[in-house]
Amino acid sequence: MSLDISHLSKIHEGDAEQSDIRIFSDITCRVETGRFLSIVGPSGCGKTTLLRIIAGLEPASGGQVLLDGEVVRGRDQRVGLVFQEYALFPWRTAIRNIEMGPEIAGVPPDERRAAAMQYIRAFDLNGFEHAYPKALSGGMKQRVAIARTLIMNPRVVLMDEPFGSLDSQTRNDLQNFLMTLWTRRKDTVLFVTHNVDEAVYLSDQIMVLSKKPTHILKIFDVSAPRPRDRTSRESNRVRKAILDLLAGPS
Ligand SMILES: Nc1ncnc2c1ncn2[C@@H]1O[C@H](COP(=O)(O)OP(=O)(O)OP(=O)(O)O)[C@@H](O)[C@H]1O
Ligand SMILES: [Mg+2]
Repeated sequence: MSLDISHLSKIHEGDAEQSDIRIFSDITCRVETGRFLSIVGPSGCGKTTLLRIIAGLEPASGGQVLLDGEVVRGRDQRVGLVFQEYALFPWRTAIRNIEMGPEIAGVPPDERRAAAMQYIRAFDLNGFEHAYPKALSGGMKQRVAIARTLIMNPRVVLMDEPFGSLDSQTRNDLQNFLMTLWTRRKDTVLFVTHNVDEAVYLSDQIMVLSKKPTHILKIFDVSAPRPRDRTSRESNRVRKAILDLLAGPS
């Protein structure tokens, strides 16, 4: 499913004390079906706000979001979300966190348990299905959070710094895990990250945003074949170009 972001803008309206705050304007891009686009940009430039608007969790001040050419209004079940702060429910075990979506959708207990078990196996969580989140490592918790989203079979997946709180080795492992998964599923992915290396390793395209008032500085294509070599000439070239752009004119 393709995702079009068309001239999106966001203004937080001020009041008597404060004037309006323009967060971003004229954000336009297209993510083709099954492509992986990352968004990088300075802290506070509006990346989370952009994802929340695309997810239908808050309104835009202008512009539209389209799925396969149709305007999206509000929350759409075809769009799945994995947010860093999307904490697991601490009172539910791993498997009960994963099967929560099907449970709310009224899927019978046997059926949803079988579906959740498939994710437990595929996500290397065997033996931890009945553990509570506090007994899981950071990487495991994030795999449960991803499973909880994917079990609903979204066509577009929005991820907001999903690996931001992990140590670098766990982060690399989960990047590889995500790539294996995505190569098989070919969901359309929009992935926000602070980490340029991560964006270069994962993405087909990388949207680089400016400081506020935010606009698109450039959209890079990354054509290196996968699985990628993190230190290849192509990876280094794109990484340097993005870092130079973010650093601004010297
Ligand atoms: N209700 C509000 N009123 C005014 N400004 C707001 C409001 N909510 C958010 N903002 C501002 O919007 C901007 C964008 O915030 P957002 O969280 O989207 O940035 P971000 O790019 O995700 O940052 P980070 O990289 O730190 O996660 C911030 O500067 C924030 O201060
Ligand atoms: Mg953010």
